Amino acid sequence: MNKKLLIKTWGCQMNEYDSSKISDLLYVTQGYKLTENPEEANVLLLNTCSIREKAQEKVFHQLGRWKTLKNKKTEVIICVGGCVATQEGDYIRKRSPFVDIIFGPQTLHRLPEMISQFQENKVSIIDISFPEIEKFDHLPPARAEGTTAFISIMEGCSKYCTYCVVPYTRGEEVSRPIDDILFEIVRLAEQGVREVNLLGQNVNAYRGKTYNNSICSFAELLYLVASVDGIDRIRFTTSHPVEFTDDIIAVYDDIPELVDFLHLPVQSGSDKILTMMNRPHTILEYKSIVRKLRQVRPNIQISSDFIVGFPGESDKDFQETIEFIKDVNFDMSFSFIFSPRPGTPAANYSCNVPEQVKKKRLYELQQTINIQAMRYSRLMLHTEQRVLVEGPSKKNLMELRSRTENNRIVNFEGSPELIGKFVDVKITNVFANSLRGQIIRTEIK
Ligand code: SAH
Ligand code: SF4
Ligand code: F3S
Repeated sequence: MNKKLLIKTWGCQMNEYDSSKISDLLYVTQGYKLTENPEEANVLLLNTCSIREKAQEKVFHQLGRWKTLKNKKTEVIICVGGCVATQEGDYIRKRSPFVDIIFGPQTLHRLPEMISQFQENKVSIIDISFPEIEKFDHLPPARAEGTTAFISIMEGCSKYCTYCVVPYTRGEEVSRPIDDILFEIVRLAEQGVREVNLLGQNVNAYRGKTYNNSICSFAELLYLVASVDGIDRIRFTTSHPVEFTDDIIAVYDDIPELVDFLHLPVQSGSDKILTMMNRPHTILEYKSIVRKLRQVRPNIQISSDFIVGFPGESDKDFQETIEFIKDVNFDMSFSFIFSPRPGTPAANYSCNVPEQVKKKRLYELQQTINIQAMRYSRLMLHTEQRVLVEGPSKKNLMELRSRTENNRIVNFEGSPELIGKFVDVKITNVFANSLRGQIIRTEIK
């Protein structure tokens, strides 16, 4: 039988990564091939996110649509995984009894077994436990799909910010052994990957076991990754200001492979709000990290995440955030209105900011950031930039799409042979969401 699998994913890069692993796993073990057409799928799988209310609502909307399909084709198997699955567990089965398998981010490697078991017994299955990082031992070897690859280096989070569900949905921080990570990266480099993005909720909390049972820090891991032949660009997402130690800053001085761009979420520019969020550092400490980084990398661009309308956020707190954004001169960032999440401490905090005020603050914050981001882009006009060519351009298949170190997309005319290579381009136009360039040099390294 020609078995087909449809996966819909929402949420962070960790969730996207998990979905790609699920598709590899179900192909290798049971021969399922990906499809985008729900009508022809034998397995319909939702990989969900519960970080904010809207992400969660999406799940039940999507399940509603799939219910109609299942009424027509009863043998189709419906699976729900990800953070909503861990958080809601049995409630999903109660509200949507047609869901057959509910699994969590740490049990996705058991899916082939769960699918077989369901086909045999026709009894729905829930497994949302947190087995100690056995998942990576059961996943197929990494497979490159382009020039850039994501590699999970640690799972979970032990920071317990008062607004956040992640520690409850993904469990505590657990690091993958260093050898596993390096082996995976070497394999990917052999298949043509030039840029890696090291993934985890707090990658700088990485403490991985080495072959002789000592512990490798995140800074040490960065040196090792940079030493892999073929890997010329290193990114990581996400890091936390609290563990952004001097040894990591020293890596920026030592290895050019580490990009001149850092995503370092801060959430607020007010010390009072940071304390209420259980983000145990001050704004001064954050600025000190930025200052030290700019000493070794004067042109580094920094992006961040912000939450507005946290309970108790006064006009003064918000103005401190705006001043802080200007002061650090943040590049493009993500910003959200506070969403009370069931089971988190902040969901019970009183003193809510009125809805209209939250929207106004979000708008002002995003305007401020957009102006700064555009200023950074404009500074690139007529400069020479080294870009990694990712593939054909999205709008014009005759052109190429590439990425700069500071995460800008540059489209330019060039031959498809350049895909997967580094090229030097001159920036000729700056648009809101991308840049245009012209090739200057193609023979690099
Ligand atoms: N581990 C990362 C990212 C976590 S989730 C970090 O600590 O920075 C991504 C972003 O979602 C967070 O940085 C935060 O800005 C936002 N977020 C998390 N919980 C939220 C909530 N309850 N309401 C609004 N935004 C939230
Ligand atoms: Fe959530 Fe905070 Fe952990 Fe980030 S550090 S995942 S915001 S608890
Ligand atoms: Fe969402 Fe879970 Fe990621 S809640 S942001 S999918 S860790």
